[in-house]
Amino acid sequence: MKCRVCRGPAVIDVRRHNANFCAEHFLKLCRDQVAKAIDQFDMVAPGDRLLVAVSGGKDSLALWDLLVELGYATDGLYLGLGIGDYSDDSARYAIDFASRRGLRLHCVDLRERYGYDVPTAASATRRVPCSGCGLSKRHVFDEVALEGGYDALVTGHNLDDEAAVLYGNVMHWHMDYLARQWPVLPAARGFPRKVKPLVRLAERETAAYCVLRGIDYQVEECPMAAGNRHLAYKEALNHIEERSPGSKASFYFGFLERAASRLGAETGQDELGSCVRCGAPTPGDVCAFCRLVERATARPATGAESPVDLRPSGPRPGHGPGAGAGLAERTDGGRSERERAAR
Ligand code: AMP
Ligand code: FES
Ligand code: ZN
Ligand code: ZN
Repeated sequence: MKCRVCRGPAVIDVRRHNANFCAEHFLKLCRDQVAKAIDQFDMVAPGDRLLVAVSGGKDSLALWDLLVELGYATDGLYLGLGIGDYSDDSARYAIDFASRRGLRLHCVDLRERYGYDVPTAASATRRVPCSGCGLSKRHVFDEVALEGGYDALVTGHNLDDEAAVLYGNVMHWHMDYLARQWPVLPAARGFPRKVKPLVRLAERETAAYCVLRGIDYQVEECPMAAGNRHLAYKEALNHIEERSPGSKASFYFGFLERAASRLGAETGQDELGSCVRCGAPTPGDVCAFCRLVERATARPATGAESPVDLRPSGPRPGHGPGAGAGLAERTDGGRSERERAAR
């Protein structure tokens, strides 16, 4: 097996590209693919301050490393979900990565900051854990990015993730979600810009990147994600990819090129008011996140305790008119929460 670029001994085959690479040229391929995604989708500009959401897993740590290598100004954000040892270990990987490189990592803990964790939210709402988990992540990511005045929130969704979400959305003909499956969501009133620079890299490649760069990461899957529909879609696509390399990429990028722009997202932004508790945009008085906090922190016996007051001391950063086109993904009606939890 020889490297496509230098003909030296190869360490990895990338069947999608029908090529093998040595360590040096594989790392370069990863950097090039991230740079290409950023450029192709006009994700961020040089000099932007980026907030990278890091879970301690391979994708987000590889992404943070790649963005630093590419010269971007980045800080990290780790959200403690309170899922036992899994969360404690994940935090250690993120903290270790940041401290070794002298990078700034914001650590937010759901229990410390809001008084609940993902297992409590799941039992209080009697919903699958990923539902409260996804809602909490979206809210906290937005809040920290806006508070810190970052130009964009960056997540480690990779090609496998995006292809699986697309597969699920097509399977159930969720036209509204399909319309928003673009790897960039512009900033809007109360929402930061959100970008996914790993869409051109597969999961296996981010894992190999971490190994070659000596990055330790959480290898366990979230113990509460078992039975998640998203995982079943991933498995189905893996079978297809195995027999026909390149299928995932052609499915996902074919959709972006041919269909995504024709679907036209309904923004729904104009109808959104502000949550009376936290200030986040919401179609009702109280946003879905604050309702979750209220349920997850209510004591079953007394039940009547007043919910935690989440009102920030000043106006929510980014509030106010003129922050760009809104996206309905960011409305927080119950149905969309359930669906997005499948991610
Ligand atoms: P997931 O929702 O687990 O598929 O993760 C998708 C992306 O969300 C990851 O690549 C990270 O960028 C981010 N993320 C997930 N979990 C966390 C967490 N606990 N703290 C910070 N970022 C996270
Ligand atoms: Fe862990 Fe959803 S609860 S990923
Ligand atoms: Zn080489
Ligand atoms: Zn709220």
